[in-house]
Amino acid sequence: MSLERTLVILKPSAVQRGLIGEITSRFERKGLRLVGMKMMQLTDDILNEHYAHLSERPFFQRVKESMMASPVVACCYEGVDAIQIVRSMTGATNGRVAVPGTIRGDFSVSSQENIIHTSDSPKTAAEEVKRFFKQDELFDYKLVSLPFLYYSDEYQLT
Ligand code: PPS
Repeated sequence: MSLERTLVILKPSAVQRGLIGEITSRFERKGLRLVGMKMMQLTDDILNEHYAHLSERPFFQRVKESMMASPVVACCYEGVDAIQIVRSMTGATNGRVAVPGTIRGDFSVSSQENIIHTSDSPKTAAEEVKRFFKQDELFDYKLVSLPFLYYSDEYQLT
């Protein structure tokens, strides 16, 4: 168990299809603490860095174009084991095979227009949160529902 922060990007497919509220509401109801949120127009520069691991893949250009098709909404969520929780709620890359009940399983029929990007490991989460948020865009406030989200030994209550 560890307290983690993770990056979520609501892709142009979520923004254009009016799914921002639906998706953020799922993370809210789950009990994750929202520590940062902003709308941004992504650029080739930030996407070259963000998708550097895909630069040799045939869909590299396409994936970048898709991510620049409209503004996106970047969110940072925090919680115990937040990275794995958010990945499970996201579902498989390809919306056609993602299990119903997951975000992609419920709202996507595509590998590219798949609604949401979520960090896949502690290392990438740390890098991605830093890439998309400045320190003063992340808010460390007291979540009053915390004692009702966790038992005291699951989370260091202050
Ligand atoms: S892979 O193949 O293991 O690298 O795939 P994955 O790590 O799951 O996906 C990385 C991102 O690439 C996008 N992707 C695709 N885009 C277009 N066409 C195809 N075939 C395709 N396959 C994967 C996928 O949506 C992932 O985007 P993010 O933003 O990371 O979710």
